[in-house]
Amino acid sequence: MNAIKKSYIETFGCQMNERDSEIMGQVLSNADYIPTEDIKQADVIVLNTCSIRDKAEQKVYSLLGTLKKLKAKKPALIISVAGCVAQQEGKRLLTRMPQVDIVLGPQQIYRLSELVSKAVAMGKQQLAVNLSSSFEIPRHIPPSPVKSSEDEQTATASFKKVVTIMQGCNNFCTYCVVPYTRGRETSRPHDDIIAEITVLANQGVKEVTLLGQNVNSYGRTNDSTLQHITFPELLRNVAKIKGIKRLRFSTSNPKDLSPELIKCFAEIENLCPHFHLPVQSGSNHILKRMNRKYSIEEYLAKVKALRHIRPDIVLTTDIIVGFPGETDEDFQATMDLLETVRYQGAYSFKYSDRPQAKSVAFDDKVDEQIKSERLHRLQEKQKSINLQENQKYEGSIQSVMIEGESKNTDGQWKGRTMSNIIVNFDGSALSPGQEVQVKITEGLPHSLRGTLV
Ligand code: SAH
Ligand code: SF4
Ligand code: F3S
Repeated sequence: MNAIKKSYIETFGCQMNERDSEIMGQVLSNADYIPTEDIKQADVIVLNTCSIRDKAEQKVYSLLGTLKKLKAKKPALIISVAGCVAQQEGKRLLTRMPQVDIVLGPQQIYRLSELVSKAVAMGKQQLAVNLSSSFEIPRHIPPSPVKSSEDEQTATASFKKVVTIMQGCNNFCTYCVVPYTRGRETSRPHDDIIAEITVLANQGVKEVTLLGQNVNSYGRTNDSTLQHITFPELLRNVAKIKGIKRLRFSTSNPKDLSPELIKCFAEIENLCPHFHLPVQSGSNHILKRMNRKYSIEEYLAKVKALRHIRPDIVLTTDIIVGFPGETDEDFQATMDLLETVRYQGAYSFKYSDRPQAKSVAFDDKVDEQIKSERLHRLQEKQKSINLQENQKYEGSIQSVMIEGESKNTDGQWKGRTMSNIIVNFDGSALSPGQEVQVKITEGLPHSLRGTLV
């Protein structure tokens, strides 16, 4: 009789990686690996890595250092590195880190169990990444495996799912590694997406998020046999699937935000009024050097149009501070933009050089200390805007979809508004996926508090 084999997957980075980890979990479970939460018990460990900033990449190396000790005690352990660092580093990673058995890029995840078998049988390191030229080949993303309900590890996972609609990116923002780690943009066939979501809905899924690096340009494909469908058309078709109560998408480059997409927010009832619209900088001079292909004026016009058509829409954003050449005036323009738009959430980062990114060669890098000071000032300002905006909900009644029991406080539940704001409230005999009405009693910088109506 074979011993029970266990797998452990740790995910870094974006929702796309989370989705990929889910798929790798499925691939391993098809090969009879049972997931474990305890890394020490695992026979196969997968680190699904992110390379978006230097910090993210360093985290992986520090964890691999710890795993080296584990492997010394347990030589049969198989250590795999997947994701964007794997694609970026490829063979170098295997050479530098002899404790690693498998390196596989984001487009190779379906081969994980085959690579594990080979690594075990041959006792040799395995490499599966795309050559930079092979990203050009038109490729259908294989339909995502749908989990059966008994496989679900958490109740939250069973009503809320993400669905990949496209991979890669063609935008080449000068700071960004994604076009090199995920390759050229390829859209998944419309019918596959609809089929996957229909199966999910039949299994009780109520909320889906359509995922891609730039979903607004969905539909571009080199494959002439595929039906050409735009993102707004796709949204309308997904929204019609019976059982889908909340529809979200992530993420978007503002340059591709079309009037048709804006119209969707007025016309599609189950499309959630939340738009993550990464601006990156408030200065036209910096946006140009970033190759973002929009001006602040164009950006603000789109914000205005969105708010005109959907006054309750919540806007969130991403900001990079200290991009090469960013002056005090450029930074001030970003601070001013925060006041103008009044986002209800901003992810902000210090610029860091990434391998292959064009900006590495820009010679007017901003001093580390200035970057830190700017980041701190920006985050303080945004925190107070978040608070003021969230306080505006006090006294209102919000429809909240329950995600589960609150981790911090006993007897409290956590859910989200349609606009994606977290709400904590007291209650009993509730269950994840249930929609309840909550009266908001307090707005906090990153969440709301309320009582069940
Ligand atoms: N596709 C999305 C962004 C994905 S990356 C878009 O175009 O908006 C997520 C965020 O990481 C980016 O929006 C950016 O703010 C940040 N980021 C990317 N590269 C970075 C770098 N080199 N240094 C610092 N932040 C970076
Ligand atoms: Fe990176 Fe720009 Fe593509 Fe976003 S749009 S993934 S920031 S290159
Ligand atoms: Fe990171 Fe790759 Fe996502 S670099 S943000 S895991 S696409």
